[in-house]
Amino acid sequence: MADKDGLKVPKDYHIAEPFANMGDFHVKGANSLDWGMKKHLSRIFNPKTGHTVMFAFDHGYFMGSTSGLERLDLVIPPLLPYVDVLMATRGALRTCVPASNTCGVALRVTSGSSMLDDDLSHEVVAVDIEDAIRMNADCMAVQTFVGADGQLSSLENLSRVINAGLKYSIPTLGVVAVGKQMERTDRFFKLATRILAELGCQIVKTYYCENFEEVAAACPVPLVIAGGKKLPEKDALNLAYKVMQGGAAGVDMGRNIFQSTHPVAMAQAVHKIVHEGFTDKEAFEFFEELSH
Ligand code: R5P
Repeated sequence: MADKDGLKVPKDYHIAEPFANMGDFHVKGANSLDWGMKKHLSRIFNPKTGHTVMFAFDHGYFMGSTSGLERLDLVIPPLLPYVDVLMATRGALRTCVPASNTCGVALRVTSGSSMLDDDLSHEVVAVDIEDAIRMNADCMAVQTFVGADGQLSSLENLSRVINAGLKYSIPTLGVVAVGKQMERTDRFFKLATRILAELGCQIVKTYYCENFEEVAAACPVPLVIAGGKKLPEKDALNLAYKVMQGGAAGVDMGRNIFQSTHPVAMAQAVHKIVHEGFTDKEAFEFFEELSH
């Protein structure tokens, strides 16, 4: 095994150089995957822009009824035309989201913790691959706890889901969790995102940090960035702009959309940044126009 305290040789991420193995496919790291995987990835990442607006409303799987998501049946349908992918639990999708929608599906397949726990870092794989197939999931989302108490079991969960996904050509989305005691540094995110990609995830969800361009360059699969806690709309749009400039393939935003004063306008403003090259300033002006 490589010496973890090895020589401190400076790293070079070749930030200015685009990913070298794109081939003729629009998703980073997916050039050698089979047709079925590529089909699912094309429902997640728009083939014209290569980007995605994922809308995360899976919070109920450990938080119960979250502010802004008290009534999934009322909140979700108006947002469907403005997002590319729904990141959700099977319970939320089956009960509250019309199956006639054309969004991709990032199905949350792990669970086992709740807000009442002190330690949220232990989960199991709770959704069988057969149900992911029945749900027509375009990827399966697995929470991982690199550097935390639950590291071993969460990476085992991840590997099991990746293995099942490869069998049936369904991509796996590895979610980098950040516990209270964990650092939000580029050092941590470089470690966690790269481990997840090398274990076989086709997509990784993570957070923005300093030197984000290096995190993105070092990860051979697309990164989608969580919005995190609710920010003023202007700041959330600035975050979306910075991550796209830094090399992310999209956002996976929840609270900054559904807790916005105007969720539908916010979803559209984020879409403008991710797919149409708007700056954060332009997107905020657009948001303000729509919400007045
Ligand atoms: C995080 O681990 C879960 O996926 C969350 O439920 C969700 O993704 C968080 O989204 P946001 O931080 O944008 O509200």
